[in-house]
Parts: sequence; C-alpha cells; structure tokens
Amino acid sequence: MHYLCTIYTNFKAIASYFYQNLIYQGKMQQGLITSEILSQFRSIVGPDQVILDETELNHYGHDETEKLVFVPEVVLKPANSFQIAEILKICNQHHLPVTPRGAGTGLSGGALPHLGGVLLSTEKLNKILSIDERNLQVVTEPGVITEVLQDAVKEKGLFYPPDPSSKGSCFIGGNIAENSGGPRAVKYGVVKDYVLNLEIILPTGEIMWTGANVLKNATGYNLTQLVVGSEGTLCIVTKIVLKLIPHPKFDLLMLVPFGSLENAGAAVSAIFRAGFVPSALELIEINALQIVSKMVESTAVPVNDSIEGHLIIEVDGNNMDVLMQEMEAIAELMTQFDAGDILFADDAQQKAELWKLRRRAAEAVKLEGYTIEEDTVVPRAELPALIKGVKEMGIQHGFKVVCYGHAGDGNLHIRINHPTIKNSHDNPEMTNILKSLFSLVKSLGGTISAEHGIGLIQKPYMETVFSKTAIQLMRDIKLAFDPNNILNAGKIFDSKD
Ligand code: LAC
Ligand code: ZN
Repeated sequence: MHYLCTIYTNFKAIASYFYQNLIYQGKMQQGLITSEILSQFRSIVGPDQVILDETELNHYGHDETEKLVFVPEVVLKPANSFQIAEILKICNQHHLPVTPRGAGTGLSGGALPHLGGVLLSTEKLNKILSIDERNLQVVTEPGVITEVLQDAVKEKGLFYPPDPSSKGSCFIGGNIAENSGGPRAVKYGVVKDYVLNLEIILPTGEIMWTGANVLKNATGYNLTQLVVGSEGTLCIVTKIVLKLIPHPKFDLLMLVPFGSLENAGAAVSAIFRAGFVPSALELIEINALQIVSKMVESTAVPVNDSIEGHLIIEVDGNNMDVLMQEMEAIAELMTQFDAGDILFADDAQQKAELWKLRRRAAEAVKLEGYTIEEDTVVPRAELPALIKGVKEMGIQHGFKVVCYGHAGDGNLHIRINHPTIKNSHDNPEMTNILKSLFSLVKSLGGTISAEHGIGLIQKPYMETVFSKTAIQLMRDIKLAFDPNNILNAGKIFDSKD
C-alpha cells in the first residue's frame, strides 16, 4: 500500500457528474410562499440568506439518495436559534412545509424537500461552543462537520467515536437526525449512545432543552432519545451536548481475504464468540473494492479471481502488546474460515489508505450505476444467510448487486444496479423487489435500516417490520410535536392513512 490522499470525501469533484444525471421527480406545491412571507424571512435572516436563485435551489434539491431531486421553493440559512424560532412561527402559521437539512449526505431522502416549501439549512450554525474537559462533554451546533468535531476533541485527548463514512463532509446535526453509526459502532455504539441533551425548537417557535447534561437520567420520558433518529420530523435541533471518552492510544488494522463471501460472514460471529471486540469489523465485497480502487487510483489491495470479499478488522486500546496478541489470535482464527494471505497495515499511511477504500465505496459504486442502496441489519450470525439470499435475488430479478458494510453489527449495505430502474422511490417493480428483500431480512430477525433512516424511500416498507398500531403511535407522537404537520411531513410514514 503506497498511495495516500486525504480521507475527506470530495463530493464537489463528482457533483457535476451527478448533476448531469439527475432525474427530476415529484410534484412540488410551488407558489405557497407569498412575497409578504419572503420579506418576513428577509427581515429575520437578512436578504442574502434567503435563496431563490435557481442554480442554488437545484443544489439543495438533492442529497446522496439514488438519483432523486425535489427542488425547494426557497432556501433559508438562519444563523442562530432565535432566527429559526421566528421562521418556524411563520411557517406554522401558514402551514408551509419545512425540510431541515444538514450537509445533504443522507441516503434515505430525509433532506429532500419533496413537498416544496422552505428548505431550512443548518450550515450557518457551525460552531463548537465548548469542550468540557472536567466532565468529558462537548456542546456543539448542528452544522459542524463530524470529523471537525472529532479532531477538535482529539486535540484534548478525547474521543467522539461515531464515524459515518461521510464523516469528512456530513454534519453532526444530520447524524443526530438519523442516529448514524459507522465502523466504530461495533465497539463504541452509535450516535444515540453519546447524546446527553439537546436544545430544540418546536414548530410553534418555542425553544427548549430535552434533558440534562448528565450521564444517567431516569427523569420522565426520554425526550432526548426520542429526538435522536426522528429525521427532522419533530423539531429542529440547535444545540447538542455529547458525551466523550478518553481517546485510545493505539490501533492496529488488518485486511483478510476470503474465497467465499459467506465464509467471511461466518467468520464475523466467530470473532466475538472467541472473546474479541474489534473497534471495527467491516466487510467489503470484491466488486466494490475493485470499483473504489479504480476511482481513487489505488493499487493497495491485490485482487485476484479467487477472492470474493474481505474483512477489515481493527482493534484499539492502550496496550500495544495486548493488541498485537489479539490481532495474532484473530488472524489464527480466520484460517478456520479459509482466509487467504492477510495484509497488516504497517503505518498510518497504509491504515488511511485502507480506510479510504472502505469509506469511499458507496460513492464509487453509485458512480458505476449501483444507485439503489439498502441499509439492512440482521443478528450478526445471520449474515451468511442474508448474503446468500441477496445474491439469489439479483439472479432471479436480473440486477447486479454488491455488498459492503458493518459486518460486526450485522449491518449490510446492499447496492443494486438495475439495468433500467435507477430509483426505488415510486417504481412498482423495484418496490416489489425490495419488499421481498425486506421480508427476507424480517425472516432472519432483522430490520430495514440500521443507520441511514427511513426518510422518503424506505417508508413503503415500514409495515414489513412494524404493526399498524406501532406506526399509528409514531404518527400520534409526530402530531404531539407538530400538530400542523409542517416539519419534514411525509418522511418515515405518510401523513395520513
Ligand atoms: C457506508 C455508508 C454508506 O457504510 O453508510 O459506507
Ligand atoms: Zn454504513
């Protein structure tokens, strides 16, 4: 492994490619926002932060989900909680749809303004407000890039582990909205495990805190955790208090090739059963690795026809000798699953190279036509059955499929390259295929999203995994927060039966 470049995902470089391939979708209710309302918005945020320019509106009309585009009527860029409160009061009074947006890296269409109306960008709320080294907590605004936050606390020897693949460009606020995960979730947990307290704004414009800055809290309903993962449907999050932990001193990384993807899947549960808890345990199918290697011009990983996929295994901690012993023991265990020659990353550059290949897989395979991404999760010992079932479905329905993901969590990203269907949303044939996929996932004890959320594109499948009663309870909660149904309406579930 010799090639190294920044792990930051360069979305800008590929934006022009996507733009030429965008497919415009949906009926927007244009004309909801009168000139009087616009001038009220201008007086709240300033004229420059009320965006009506067509090119800019188009930019805010898509995220990283498939090839979907819904252009908002106006984009607002408030700078603080008070401005957001005033905006929401106006929208609530006029029943205007409001779509909150972070960095637009989402994969379930959560930030797509499919009803038109106002797109509320949190990009100006981009300050880390304080790092509390006595209590190991950070207070941040939602528009801070996740990796910027991680680097800032790391400078103080502290660790905020959740690390979605888009960490170089996604916002921490979007991570809260989706309850994001990432490779380190397998040892350290997902975003919800770090959120202690949130400042939120209700659609009425009321500003409130959901909890307290404490590590234990048995005081009433847990509103903080209800907001985490609510995908911008309940309120706007404007301040976030996160728990931090001490940063581990060392990590080791290895790449293990397998002749059979199912064997790779089976090896995953054996690692835990043998008493190890890696800080990352990722699976990447060979096609995905080939495609991403080509995109980033890397020759780091030798590829041959006998390999179907790799596991990327990381361990971390404060004692290098212990880590070395763990790695050796895991490597030995892997031989029971017909693993090939294991590559150890020798230095920081090689580690970065391997992680770059894994983190940029989604972006690379999407460019190759694998536009539809699923975020399935099953109990981890069922991974081989899921992989087998997915491959059979590809053959049966005539699409190419490539898998990668967080195998240690049983979380498999399934990317579909259908010869004619590039969006799942509203396509009856693809909807049927996905229904079969999710029935398989359900039959294995899993569910339909682990870390990307339901948003717009997964909502037709909610009844595969929830009873009508459960969905109705969610709708009732939504209406308790947002009686006029203005905030990200039609995400997670349809507004009405
Ligand atoms: C990943 C993103 C797509 O794991 O969740 O690459
Ligand atoms: Zn992922």
